Amino acid sequence: MSPMSDSTRRQFLFTAGTLAAFAVSARAGQPGAPSGGAGQPAAGKPVEKIPLERRKFGKTDMEVTVLGFGGAEIGYRKTDQDIIDRLLNSALDAGLNVIDTAECYAGSEESIGKAVASRRSEYHLFTKVGHMEQGEAGWTAASIEKSIERSLQRLKTDRVDLVQLHSCSLDTLKKGECIEALEKAKKAGKTRYIGYSGDSDAALWAVESGRFDSLQTSCSYADQEAIELTLPKAKERQMGVVIKRPIANAVWRQDEQPKDGYTVDYWKRSQKLAYDFTKGEARQDNGPDGAAGIALRFTLAVPGVSVAIVGTSNPDRWRQNAQMLKAGGPLPREKFEAIRARWKEAAEPGWHGLT
Ligand SMILES: NC(=O)c1ccc[n+]([C@@H]2O[C@H](COP(=O)([O-])OP(=O)(O)OC[C@H]3O[C@@H](n4cnc5c(N)ncnc54)[C@H](OP(=O)(O)O)[C@@H]3O)[C@@H](O)[C@H]2O)c1
Repeated sequence: MSPMSDSTRRQFLFTAGTLAAFAVSARAGQPGAPSGGAGQPAAGKPVEKIPLERRKFGKTDMEVTVLGFGGAEIGYRKTDQDIIDRLLNSALDAGLNVIDTAECYAGSEESIGKAVASRRSEYHLFTKVGHMEQGEAGWTAASIEKSIERSLQRLKTDRVDLVQLHSCSLDTLKKGECIEALEKAKKAGKTRYIGYSGDSDAALWAVESGRFDSLQTSCSYADQEAIELTLPKAKERQMGVVIKRPIANAVWRQDEQPKDGYTVDYWKRSQKLAYDFTKGEARQDNGPDGAAGIALRFTLAVPGVSVAIVGTSNPDRWRQNAQMLKAGGPLPREKFEAIRARWKEAAEPGWHGLT
């Protein structure tokens, strides 16, 4: 199915009526509806909800806002708790309903628990397992069970909505022990759904195995392997799809080649791909047709995608990005196809999905 018809089929909530909507969800009790917990806006002071598109999360009962929150940066950048409180509470006020984190994001789970555990009914909570603390074996049933318990404590909740295997290898997946451990946790009510987070061959195996409710994988203008390799199959199997690294770590912001190994390959790819939206004035343009706007709208136009979890430690960023999506709407099909065509022309054989 073409990205345009796919987008058109979905319900974009960009109408005048919804623009004026305030922080009162039409569906009380659903994530996105106010719970009256701490961190809420002051009583009587309405907060503008940004009318974001929601998509069904595969076969699950979840409906997710297309823009989620990626919890790695707040951990790795050691963001102050008061900034995290502001960031997450204002994003929830504005309509965010997916928070993604992991056991190994350096304090991210604890910070999220502190900031918004009292508003737990307002968001779907996704975490990951497998990267253990020093001295612990990672990919065993016992360590996964222990890790989930620890995540629940840190997140101050009795169950999460999704636990994902955190990018284990194909061999580990094939052994089956980790998957069985997740299935056991699901049965025990510790998590409502289970998923795999990773890329390329391992992600493909995970999708084809039929044992996961969701796939989290990298996809962006600088990482398009998943568009043909895994996402059509995930869509066919009605899996929920979370996109990590959805704007390629905003590498267009860097004039020089970055020194950190995490972003350098996206930077090099971005240089070679040389899309107009990553050059010149577009790099600083925060509107829907600037670099971030086109990058994010491209990712959201990929068939099968449910939610893009943009990472940030900037307290105003989630709202900015949501406003940008509202202003731009779906990426026109010809723009989407042009970005795909350039990738097909310039991508090198080794440009696999980057974890
Ligand atoms: N193996 C795995 O499972 C795995 C691996 C990687 C990532 N993840 C998940 O995916 C999430 C997202 O990945 P990511 O954070 O690496 O990549 P990303 O979302 O593509 O990029 C995040 C970067 O983009 C910047 N940014 C956000 N909005 C922007 C805008 N409008 N204009 C300019 N810059 C903007 C942020 O900076 P500011 O702080 O300035 O906003 C941040 O540095 C992570 O947080 C994590 O939850 C999972």
